[in-house]
Amino acid sequence: MPQISMKVNGETKSGEVEGRTLLVEFLRETLGLTGTHVGCDTSQCGACVVHVDGKEVKSCTILAAEAEGAEVRTIEGMAEADGTLHRLQEAFNTHHGLQCGFCTAGMIMSAAALLEKT
Ligand code: FES
Repeated sequence: MPQISMKVNGETKSGEVEGRTLLVEFLRETLGLTGTHVGCDTSQCGACVVHVDGKEVKSCTILAAEAEGAEVRTIEGMAEADGTLHRLQEAFNTHHGLQCGFCTAGMIMSAAALLEKT
């Protein structure tokens, strides 16, 4: 299997993937970053949104190999190293903006990308 490497939440990560491995599978199953969820598997819900080179991407829609060499940020990379939550995480918490919580990570990553763009 081919070896891929990318920077995830500021750290270089590598792993072997099959050609068909999705980025969300690589993040969750190979790297153990289970904060990114799969809600629909049909590219509709956004629960799987992460940032790839600064752009929001539904990680169920791209292959892990397509992110080779990219900078990827997941929900685990939003808080500071000392555990201080990102302002959006604080805001979602303060205003109970999470519904059941399953897709909250995707909502935060989408909101962060929107705010960074605008
Ligand atoms: Fe629903 Fe990716 S899991 S859009």
